[in-house]
Order: sequence, then structure tokens, then C-alpha cells
Amino acid sequence: MKLLLLYSWLLAVAAALDPLQYVNLFIGTVNGGHTFPGATVPHGMVKVGMDTDSPGNHAGYDSDARYNVTGFSQLHQSGTGGQVPLSNFKLFPIHNCSAFEQCLTTIDSRKILRHILPDGSVDDYASPGYFSTNLSNSIRVELTSTRRTALHRYTFPEESTTPRILLDVTNDGQISANDITMLINSETGRMTASGSFADSFGIARYNAYACVDFKGDFSGPVEYGPYKINYPDLWGTDIQQHYYTWGYEHGGLVGFPGSKTGPTTILARVGISLLSVEQACANAEKEISDWNFERVVRDSEAQWRDILGRVQVNTDGVADNTTTLLYSSLYRTHITPADLTGENPGWSSSEPYYDSFYCNWDTYRTLFPLMSLHDPQRFAAIVRGMIDIQKNEGWLPECREMGTKQFVQGGSHGDPILAEFFIKYQNHTSSLGVSDKDLYNALLADAENTPPNWNIQGRQADVWKELGYIPSDTTYRGGANTKQVSRAIEYAFDDFAISQVAKGLNKVEDAAKYAARARNFMNSWNGSISVPDTEEDISGFFQPRFANGTWNYTDPRHCSVHDPTGSTCFLNAIRRDGFYETSPIVYSQYVPHDTAKLIELQGGRKKFIERLDWMFDNGYFDSTNEPSQQIPHMYHYADKPGYSARRVRETINQYFNTSRNGLPGNDDSGAMGSYVFFYLAGMYPLPATKQYLLSSPYFPSISFHNPLLNSTTTFVSRGFGSGIYVKSVTVNGRPQKSTCFLDWDVFTTSSTVILELTDDVEVNCGGELPPSLSSGGYD
Ligand SMILES: *[C@@H]1O[C@H](CO)[C@@H](O)[C@H](O)[C@H]1NC(C)=O
Ligand SMILES: *[C@@H]1O[C@H](CO)[C@@H](O)[C@H](O)[C@H]1NC(C)=O
Ligand SMILES: *[C@@H]1O[C@H](CO)[C@@H](O)[C@H](O)[C@H]1NC(C)=O
Ligand SMILES: *[C@@H]1O[C@H](CO)[C@@H](O)[C@H](O)[C@H]1NC(C)=O
Ligand SMILES: *[C@@H]1O[C@H](CO)[C@@H](O)[C@H](O)[C@H]1NC(C)=O
Ligand SMILES: *[C@@H]1O[C@H](CO)[C@@H](O)[C@H](O)[C@H]1NC(C)=O
Ligand SMILES: *[C@@H]1O[C@H](CO)[C@@H](O)[C@H](O)[C@H]1NC(C)=O
Ligand SMILES: *[C@@H]1O[C@H](CO)[C@@H](O)[C@H](O)[C@H]1NC(C)=O
Ligand SMILES: *[C@@H]1O[C@H](CO)[C@@H](O)[C@H](O)[C@H]1NC(C)=O
Ligand SMILES: *[C@@H]1O[C@H](CO)[C@@H](O)[C@H](O)[C@H]1NC(C)=O
Repeated sequence: MKLLLLYSWLLAVAAALDPLQYVNLFIGTVNGGHTFPGATVPHGMVKVGMDTDSPGNHAGYDSDARYNVTGFSQLHQSGTGGQVPLSNFKLFPIHNCSAFEQCLTTIDSRKILRHILPDGSVDDYASPGYFSTNLSNSIRVELTSTRRTALHRYTFPEESTTPRILLDVTNDGQISANDITMLINSETGRMTASGSFADSFGIARYNAYACVDFKGDFSGPVEYGPYKINYPDLWGTDIQQHYYTWGYEHGGLVGFPGSKTGPTTILARVGISLLSVEQACANAEKEISDWNFERVVRDSEAQWRDILGRVQVNTDGVADNTTTLLYSSLYRTHITPADLTGENPGWSSSEPYYDSFYCNWDTYRTLFPLMSLHDPQRFAAIVRGMIDIQKNEGWLPECREMGTKQFVQGGSHGDPILAEFFIKYQNHTSSLGVSDKDLYNALLADAENTPPNWNIQGRQADVWKELGYIPSDTTYRGGANTKQVSRAIEYAFDDFAISQVAKGLNKVEDAAKYAARARNFMNSWNGSISVPDTEEDISGFFQPRFANGTWNYTDPRHCSVHDPTGSTCFLNAIRRDGFYETSPIVYSQYVPHDTAKLIELQGGRKKFIERLDWMFDNGYFDSTNEPSQQIPHMYHYADKPGYSARRVRETINQYFNTSRNGLPGNDDSGAMGSYVFFYLAGMYPLPATKQYLLSSPYFPSISFHNPLLNSTTTFVSRGFGSGIYVKSVTVNGRPQKSTCFLDWDVFTTSSTVILELTDDVEVNCGGELPPSLSSGGYD
């Protein structure tokens, strides 16, 4: 056993690699992945990047060379849908105009293509903490950032006699600004600006503030003034001089003396705040007082190296692009939520403030369980911030952006996030500043109190408690009813998560109460529904139900690729059909806390396996939306873990790669990144439990370092390359009761997990299936 430990330690050390080399930020930057390739620190508020005129510019950027650059803005999201979010306060370098007043400033007249490389691709580069591009007019742009401040470096070519930079105040992603201000300091060229903007997945507005300073071989600007559409006004200092009608483009323009002997380099530092322009300036002065671009890049890289380096892999016999897929996916799980501590527009508090939960529906399943493995301190700060929101607003956040509440997609999924944290770190809550009492009260608020508008926070708790399902009647107890069936299944999971915490706190009655509510998913199960137009003998699906108990039949293929009506089940459709972002077929296969019950409802293991196969073989599995994420692992519960491992590999092969189009849909704030990471690591987490389903890693060894517990746990694959199916498992030399799942305790102290691999897909769990609520419950 000692020898084995030494062996795995050697492997880990030998493999120590710089994770930054393996981060490709361009994955998912075309074809609707909406990923953000610009510069940010982990969970930074400022995410500075290029904006383009692509219709898919949700993160500003598009890799497609056809699209023009419209500016370099300070705030973005990564991987989201909705309306184009943020993209506020674009800077744009103006190469040359015959005179200040002649400069073309509107987005349409100033926009420009990028320099194109010989192979037809754009001349853009990105690595963690740094982004650069060359425009077709030979201006070079480089970007880096700290938490609340962006630093831009513009290098103008020699022929640019008066290099100019504009600040665009009105063109956020949705062109939604109103109530704008902008002042220019004539001595220094400092521009301060503010505006009110529309959030992207809701109906609220937020305020944002910017403070822009310049540095170069000069003491101040040689020209300055505000602009309105294409009319810059030389020597003006206040945008109000121009701001007499709503709906025009407004901003400021400053010109600097160009070098007579070569290119001119100008640094632009942009502090951002959600509170005031004074705070924006203070943030910039504090975070980047030295104007040292390289230093800022190095600091950002160090933060990324620290967080990504907590996962180490041995790459012997592994294709480089597999390692790149692993670290790039991990990278994208650390972009949001964003650390807005000190910037909370809602109330003052000494607690951390995190925002950009976009949305918890997407991230509770795998992103936060991944954070449990290697980033507990950050996780604790996020949990504290969420509890503080609940204390001040009554309910936990669900889909929050810039202090606004956006649309709820399903249940109140702050609940499984808090529960995930608690189940893993119960022994450390007080040292991490998390109050068990406040955490539990926050969960109870979601579970018991119905908010005035459950479309933006909380859930329909009153109806859920009364009926044990969410009825289809449009007027029942108020509110337009949407996604009733998927909400009911998700409310059940939320209650399961609460029962887990209650159990951990020895609240025996509450634990039983919420476990009972977690079983309410069965109230929406209709055992006599089958799929039309198929030979396959499949019956039993979740179905919508009226308050009087009768059913409103919905074709199980609804919202699938084979839906005869072609419905999508996205939030933008006016629907009363009960399901969200996937079909009844997928939802009927996904009750993460009680798969044993599903197997029983579906007629036993053999039937369950046939049904899973039928789903995959007929295209019902949907890699782009979260309810499908766990589906490839479901064979575990029927004692066929090899079939799961095979499906996992098929899923990665078919849908995920390191190309720019390597994501099948929106990354959903890192939700997809986190599940791809788990697939490659050979595990799948069950949030709010101590269990991880086990398949097999894509690496001969992979290790996880936990800085709070100072533990490093290494998985070693014996027989790597000869098969992908797990025959036996030992932890620190001790044979495990099951080859299908592992308990959290392998991560709490440094452990070596040895997986013996085989090419026999018919392996079983070795005697113990993963837990389910109805087969005895979870520890
Ligand atoms: C890029 O801008 C040019 C010049 O305004 C325009 O002709 C072209 O259509 C733009 N490209 C796209 C994809 O809109
Ligand atoms: C830049 O502007 C100056 C002054 O108007 C002009 O002489 C020069 O030709 C321009 N250069 C380019 C490349 O347009
Ligand atoms: C841009 O051009 C510079 C040389 O002017 C070059 O060093 C750099 O690699 C180019 N590409 C990017 C993305 O910065
Ligand atoms: C908490 O500590 C106890 C006693 O050391 C241990 O048995 C338990 O597994 C720990 N819980 C977690 C979640 O680590
Ligand atoms: C139950 O409610 C639905 C919706 O209001 C209605 O269409 C149906 O007739 C009712 N059925 C019974 C038996 O009351
Ligand atoms: C299922 O729903 C149908 C209506 O679509 C209804 O006739 C049937 O009784 C329901 N079956 C069960 C088992 O509830
Ligand atoms: C019943 O289901 C159908 C088809 O899914 C839907 O169009 C209709 O609006 C539903 N009726 C009610 C009252 O919810
Ligand atoms: C990469 O993944 C995308 C998205 O799933 C897919 O469309 C594309 O065909 C894949 N490319 C390769 C080379 O596998
Ligand atoms: C890695 O490259 C190989 C060969 O081009 C390709 O088959 C595979 O799909 C790629 N994998 C990823 C994860 O991009
Ligand atoms: C963490 O563990 C390592 C290796 O076991 C040990 O060398 C180090 O001293 C530990 N650090 C702390 C702070 O306990």
C-alpha cells in the first residue's frame, strides 16, 4: 500500500503541468456557444472583451471573420441565452480622421473587420487574463483586467497622426441605455460615465458606472468632446450638452498627440462600479495604480494557475486536445458567479456579494459540485452572499444579474447549491463564516413562503404544499402557469436537498417531512401514457394534471427532435404544456434523487435499460440542455455501469471538442463546461449528497487538490488504454463495496483510488447499487 501511494505521488509530481498551456478560450465562440474569450480574473466582475456585430454576440465576441468589431467593452456574461447581456461602455480606437469633427462615431460607421491570417481565420489571441487582436487598419488592441478594472493597450500605426479613442455610453448589448451621464476632464482626458440599462433575462434595469483614464507619452488630450451620432463636439465636456433626445448614440471622444517616429501606444484604464462614478474611479486607482500592463497580466495568470492547477493529470498516452478539453472546460466554470463584493446596489452589508447566477437551474447540477472538489473557500463566500440576499430579499437568488432578479427557469435552485455546500463542508461551516442556522432558514424560506412573483424568485410553495404537484389550470391561485410538470419534478429535488441538510442538522422531523415532499414527483406520473408511432413497448410518463386531479394529455415527444408540432419549450414561447427545455421523454428518465423508483415505475431494470437505449438510439438525448446531463450515467442504477461509460464516451465524441464550434449549444455560465469536466474525470456528482457515480477517467491518473482540507486525492487507472470499464476499485488499498459510486470521504483526506479497468462492458456494480431515496436513502 505504501508503494502504491508513492507510485501515485510520483505520477502526480511527474505530471505537474502548467494548466494555462491547455486552456483554449475560443471553444464555443461560434455556432451559439456564446462563450467569452476576453480577459477576466477568476469570478471577476470586469470581463473585458471584444464586441462584434454578430447576431450571436451574447458574450460580445464571434470568431467568424465576417463580423466587424464594434468596440471593447468591460462587462460580459459567458454562455448565456436571453437578450444580449451587458457589453457596457465600449472603447473604440479611431485610426485617422481628417479633423475631430469629421470622425465617424456611430457603431455602424466606425465598425471595422479584423486582420485576417493567411488561413482565413481572424488574428485574435487569448489566454487566461489576456486578449489581443489586430484590426484591419493595423491598430493592435490588448486587454487585461483585475476584479473591477480593465486595462486596454492600443497601439496605433505611425500614420495615425492623432490617435483617438472613443467611449460609447449608449450601446450596451441591447442598446438600452437611458438616463446617461458623461463628463470629460479637459486636463487629463478622464471620462466618467453612467447609465441605466436593461437586464438580459428579465424585465428589470440596472445602473452601471465607468471611469476611464489614459496614459501615454503625453500629459493630456490635444482634443476632446462629447459626440452625438456622427457629430463630435470639439472642446465640450458634458454629454448633457448633446443629450436632448432619447434614442441617439452618445459618448465621448479624446485625441492624443501621435508619435512622429513610430507607433503610438496608449493605455486606457476603465474602473467599473454598480454604485457611483466615484467608486468606479476609486476601484481603478486602487487596483491598477501602477499602469503596469504586464504586471496585471501576470497577477491574473497567477490566480488562474492557482485555481486550475488544483487539478493535475498524467497525460501519458493522452491526446493533447483531450487535456485541452479538460482544462478549457474547467476554466469556464470559474467565470461566473461574479464577485461583486463592495458593489451591491441593494443594501450595505459586510458579507460577500456574488451575482451573475445565470441561472442556478443550469449550474446546480454539476458546476457547484465541481467547486466542492477544489474551491471550497470561494464556494463558502458565494453561499454567504446568497444567504445575505435571502435575508434582505426574502428568497435565495435564482437568475440574478447586476442586482436584478431575472426569470426563474424551474424551482428554487439556490436550495441544492446551499445543500451541496453543507453536505460537503458541514464540519467547516463556522471556520468559513457560514451560519448553519441562517443557511437552514434560507432553505425553509424557499420551501415554505410563496413570493409575490414566483417567476423571479422562490417557488409556488403554497400550491406545491396543497396539491403535491403544480396544476395546469391557468388561474389556479394566481399567475400564468408555465412549465408545471418540470417545476414539480424540480421542486421535489429541491425538497430532497433540504431533507439532506435537515438530516445533517439532526432535525429528524424536518428531514422526514422534506423527504416525503421529495417523493411528490410521483403525483405527476401517469403510468398509462405511451409514445405514439413507435413499435417500442414503453409506457409511463410525467404528464400535466389539473387541480381536480384529471390529466391534460401531452405527447411524450413534445419539444423533442421528433415533436410533430415542432415546439421548443424555451421560456420565450407562450406555453401551457408543462415542460421546460426538454421533452417529457427526458424528464421521465431524470429524477436524480430516486432513480430506483423510476426503475420500478418503468417495469424493472431490463425495461429501464431498453428505454434508455431507445432514447439514445432515437435522438431524444439532448446534449444541449441540462436535464439530459445525467442520462448517460443512468445505467449505473440498473447495475450496468459499463453501458454508462460507453454512453459517456459517445457523448463526448459526438458533441464536444476543442474547435471553435466545439459546443453543441450555450455553455450556460459554465454548466456545460462542468459536466464535460466530470465526464472526462470519470465521475458524475449527485448534488446535495456525498455520492459520485464512477465511470473511468480519460487520463492514466487525475488528482484533485483541496486547499481547505489540504488533501490531494488521486485516481489511478490500472490497465489504462486496454479498456474503459471499471472492474474493481480500491481506496488506499481497501477494496470498495461498489464499483459504481464513491463517497465524498475519499476527498476529505488524501487518498489514492485505484481503478482496475477491463474491456468487458458487462461489468456490474460489484454488489451495491448507488443510493436512491426509495431504496434506503442517502447517508
Ligand atoms: C462589416 O462592416 C462592413 C462595413 O460597414 C459591412 O459592409 C459589412 O456588411 C459588415 N459585416 C457584417 C457581417 O455585418
Ligand atoms: C491621416 O491623417 C492625416 C491628416 O489628415 C493625413 O495627412 C494622412 O494621409 C492620413 N493617413 C491615412 C493613412 O489616412
Ligand atoms: C498582431 O500583430 C503583432 C505585430 O504587430 C503580432 O505580434 C501579434 O502576434 C499579432 N496578433 C495578435 C493577435 O496580437
Ligand atoms: C465530519 O467529521 C466527522 C468526524 O470526524 C466525520 O465522521 C464526517 O465524515 C465529517 N463529515 C464530512 C462531510 O466530511
Ligand atoms: C377538471 O378541470 C379541467 C380544467 O379546468 C376541466 O377541463 C375538466 O372538465 C375538469 N374535470 C372534472 C372531472 O371536473
Ligand atoms: C393518464 O392520463 C389519461 C389522460 O391522458 C387518463 O385517461 C388516464 O386515466 C391516466 N392514467 C393514470 C394511470 O392515471
Ligand atoms: C393542455 O395541453 C395542451 C397540449 O400540450 C395545451 O396546448 C393546452 O394549453 C393545455 N391546456 C391547459 C388548460 O393547460
Ligand atoms: C465539434 O463539435 C461540434 C458541436 O457539437 C460539432 O458540430 C462538430 O461537428 C464537431 N467537430 C468535430 C471535428 O468533431
Ligand atoms: C482530438 O483530435 C482528434 C484527431 O483530430 C479528433 O478525432 C478528436 O475528436 C479530437 N478531440 C477533441 C476533444 O477535440
Ligand atoms: C499540506 O500537506 C502537505 C503534504 O501532505 C504538507 O507537506 C503540508 O505541510 C501541509 N500544509 C499545511 C498547511 O498543513
